[in-house]
Amino acid sequence: MRNFTELSEKYRINIEERLTESLQLLGGSPLRESIGYVFSMGGKRVRPLLTIFAAEAVGESNKDVINGAVAIEILHNFTLVHDDIMDNADTRRGKTTVHIKSGVNTAILVGDQMMALAYDCLEKCSGDHLREALRIFNEGVKEVCDGQALDESLSKSAASSMPGYVDMISKKTGALLMAAGKLGAVLGGGPEDEVELLGSFGMNIGIAFQILDDMLDLEGDAERFGKPRGLDIMEKKKNYLYLKALESLDETKVGVVKAAYQKMTVTETEVAAVRDVYRNGGIVDSAQREVSEYTARALANLETFKESDGKDALIGLAKSLVQRKF
Ligand code: IPE
Ligand code: IPE
Ligand code: MG
Ligand code: MG
Ligand code: MG
Repeated sequence: MRNFTELSEKYRINIEERLTESLQLLGGSPLRESIGYVFSMGGKRVRPLLTIFAAEAVGESNKDVINGAVAIEILHNFTLVHDDIMDNADTRRGKTTVHIKSGVNTAILVGDQMMALAYDCLEKCSGDHLREALRIFNEGVKEVCDGQALDESLSKSAASSMPGYVDMISKKTGALLMAAGKLGAVLGGGPEDEVELLGSFGMNIGIAFQILDDMLDLEGDAERFGKPRGLDIMEKKKNYLYLKALESLDETKVGVVKAAYQKMTVTETEVAAVRDVYRNGGIVDSAQREVSEYTARALANLETFKESDGKDALIGLAKSLVQRKF
């Protein structure tokens, strides 16, 4: 993990600086302060680190790579601002969400303008990389929108299945990590097969990441996770835990879960009851196993890469995500 810890500390500072610098591109915009607020909220910066490490695994980081990495992080932050409106979330990263702080209309515009800001950063990539970078980026944007739309419709529909869930999270979360991996590989000058492998690496850690996020909704370190506990239950999200419970638990236990999902407002006691069903029924353990399985697939995607600090850092990144508590 040495390379991962060292490299991520080094690049995280770089990413923060570049995010702050990007605000200058907004000139005197009335939305500038709110976008600055989003950047100041914190965040693990997983996606830009993935872009940078992917570039280092195929060649080396350069100015284009940093521009691409910053663009991906801005895009991710935009999806969070709109996601919090959709999910009725009052806090993110332990801070008040933009729509609660400044109103829904402002939050919609903040998201929209962040998207343009992301393109501003991407556009700084040199000509020979730009077209492919744009293609990868847009593919990611479209998939995230599809994934979020599927998430929305699943939460409103009675029909749901594990394959449907995996498809949904591959799009809402996997696609952006896939784009981050591919972008790094393209901007770092990697050959086509390595671009594909690093895309698959991103997809696999993305799926693991979302299953873990679903689990942390109930099991996370509330303070550090920075999001309201049990929100997925309150918002009727058909997350991994819910679908696995439906698949493998008896009627009485499933009844406790379904009862909570049928209520308009869910109390803390009911959230705790669902959590106990998940814990005692082995659902939390299944989630952990699934996370390990997708992480192993991600690590297998790296097998043919030659040894490098970038490859080590990617391995470290994948392993650190499995262990995360927030
Ligand atoms: C949150 O992503 C959205 C999901 C895909 C679960 P992160 O957990 O990477 O959010 P930050 O950027 O670190 O806050
Ligand atoms: C992922 O889903 C969100 C995006 C892809 C934008 P969630 O809704 O589970 O993310 P959190 O839990 O709010 O971070
Ligand atoms: Mg959501
Ligand atoms: Mg959400
Ligand atoms: Mg979540």
